[in-house]
Amino acid sequence: MLYKSLFKPLLFRKDAESAHEFTVRLSSLTSRSQLLSSMAGMMYGTKFPKLEQKLFGLTFPNPVGLAAGFDKNGETPVAMQALGFGFVEIGSITARPSSGNPKPRAFRLPEDRSLINRMGLNNQGAEVVVDRLNKLKLNIPMGVNIAKTNDPSIHGDAALQDYLFSYELANGVADYITVNISCPNTGEGKTFEDPEALSSLLEALEPNKSGRVPTLVKFSVDTDQATLASLVDICEDHGISGYVATNTSSNRTGLKTSETRLSEIGNGGLSGRAIAEQSTRIVSWLSDILKGSKPIIGVGGIDSPEAAIQKIEAGASLIQIYSGMVYEGPGLIKKINKALSKRA
Ligand SMILES: Cc1cc2nc3c(=O)[nH]c(=O)nc-3n(C[C@H](O)[C@H](O)[C@H](O)COP(=O)(O)O)c2cc1C
Repeated sequence: MLYKSLFKPLLFRKDAESAHEFTVRLSSLTSRSQLLSSMAGMMYGTKFPKLEQKLFGLTFPNPVGLAAGFDKNGETPVAMQALGFGFVEIGSITARPSSGNPKPRAFRLPEDRSLINRMGLNNQGAEVVVDRLNKLKLNIPMGVNIAKTNDPSIHGDAALQDYLFSYELANGVADYITVNISCPNTGEGKTFEDPEALSSLLEALEPNKSGRVPTLVKFSVDTDQATLASLVDICEDHGISGYVATNTSSNRTGLKTSETRLSEIGNGGLSGRAIAEQSTRIVSWLSDILKGSKPIIGVGGIDSPEAAIQKIEAGASLIQIYSGMVYEGPGLIKKINKALSKRA
């Protein structure tokens, strides 16, 4: 209520990135203040014992997680825990710090309850972020999402070493690591969704090596069924523990937003309600391939309990939200958990 009547009108007066920066600053302040965290907890946090699950050897108090991209620098996990999230995913982080693509690079599509972004993997770099995360005390699982530094001059073996640098650093602090092979917003596109490239990447990372935390792979919503099957085959050969489906889309079909507005906005990854159906389809394809052998995190357009249930019925054990929070606010977390708890 407070979000929709007070914060949302204020935030929607700002451009999408400034609104996001403001929200991160407020959440970061909440993370650092015991008083603000307790207040957030009183307003939004509730326990849902029926929803607790053990997956990849980790205990998730509820299945609703914060998707990667909201907190790229690890500044808000304590606030997110207070708001009722059952887990958080920090990042994407990259080996080298990056300021990302030129602004403007984040846009709202209110008629579609969606967003388009081409942030371009802006983050403070793996060392700074991991150092910050090392100082945290959290009671919920924390994933770290890694990607290749957004610099097309880093390719071939250097690209693998770049990923490996972040992977090894993150391994010291994360409960699980997500390998983001599906960012549509880099100079070179999503190179690592090519089966050969993925194979070399996972050979370099060695997720099977002893001492590694559970490692997940995140797919694009634009992946076709045959490619998905071959990518999963490769992941299974290299000891991947689970899958995140999905990242954003480069597709623009079926949107209510006008062509003029879309061409003004230009390139970027579409997220939110507009990708919900296709992302659920990818979760079902994954579920058909895996037959319950590995957990799936369903993400893409979850902005209501019904949308969350669709991902779970398609085969997801956990879900994540980003765009839904922009349109619905943090009350969405409890709303989904309440509905899931009634169903359990
Ligand atoms: C502004 C923005 C930045 C994002 N940055 C990342 C990122 O750095 N790494 C990543 O794996 N996903 C990133 N994502 C994708 C989300 O994690 C999620 O997969 C996608 O937005 C679909 O979920 P949603 O419809 O709930 O937003 C980003 C999404 C948005 C909107």
